[in-house]
Amino acid sequence: MARIIDGKKVAADVLAECAAEIAELKAQGVTPGLAVVLVGEDPASQVYVNAKVRQCGELGLHSEKIVLSAQATQAEVLEVVRRLNQDESIHGILVQSPPPPQIDEESIVRAIDPGKDVDGFHPENVARLALEDEDGFVPCTPAGCMRLIEAAGIETRGAEAVVVGRSMIVGKPMALLLMARGSDATVTVAHSRTKDLAAVCRRADLLVAAVGIAEMIKADFVKEGAVVIDVGINRVDDPAAKRGYRLCGDVAYEEVARKASAITPVPGGVGPMTIAMLMKNTIKAARKRSMAAVGR
Ligand code: GUN
Repeated sequence: MARIIDGKKVAADVLAECAAEIAELKAQGVTPGLAVVLVGEDPASQVYVNAKVRQCGELGLHSEKIVLSAQATQAEVLEVVRRLNQDESIHGILVQSPPPPQIDEESIVRAIDPGKDVDGFHPENVARLALEDEDGFVPCTPAGCMRLIEAAGIETRGAEAVVVGRSMIVGKPMALLLMARGSDATVTVAHSRTKDLAAVCRRADLLVAAVGIAEMIKADFVKEGAVVIDVGINRVDDPAAKRGYRLCGDVAYEEVARKASAITPVPGGVGPMTIAMLMKNTIKAARKRSMAAVGR
């Protein structure tokens, strides 16, 4: 039976680090600030945005939540981003993804000041990640996965890692982080068009599932003794559940846990790490900003 990698515990450790760093910044007269922009009423996005704002409050970070209607125009969203770029009390800006279909997400992301792009989605930060330049911002979910892997004492050096999913939010940055110097994994990125996905996944010593399809990764996708990181948060109808649905990952947990050596649960695995790393990135943005101000 696999060892369970406890994301809540590792996230609590990261948040304790954040609290110490915030105290230090506040002593210098700087309160890190995060703006979270939600366009529309997607229920999952509402939950995530509220969780991010709540976490800021618990840590004593300044935060601003901006909610635009599902009919908001591109110009309206851009106007909010431009205002936040100019706002000295805001160090991090995040526009929750996915926005409604009339919004061109890529040009919104490009409009965010790269120094405030705590999601790490701006082309400048994507390039910095590819260049292994530590001055950039790394997307929060893959950064959280790396921290979990490290905290669980898992050796990535020389390991065969398979990332399932090629999204800009998780799959691609995760592959870059795993192959970077220091992690030194041999990385394969698989996706919906991959031939014989199960066979590709079975090569993995470290399998990262980020496909967004409930319980797609079955036991026959997993090598005996592999480490499995489940990034999925899927809502599955469940009339017996209080809210009418339950959350499950991209991995068929019960059967895979019998084969893996270690696994992250859903919920309580990668999810809490994403928010913790967002707090880290916001603190990093505030620190960069205050250092730039001293240098002026
Ligand atoms: N939607 C799902 N994950 C994320 C994330 O990390 N950042 C943003 N902005 N939207 C998301």
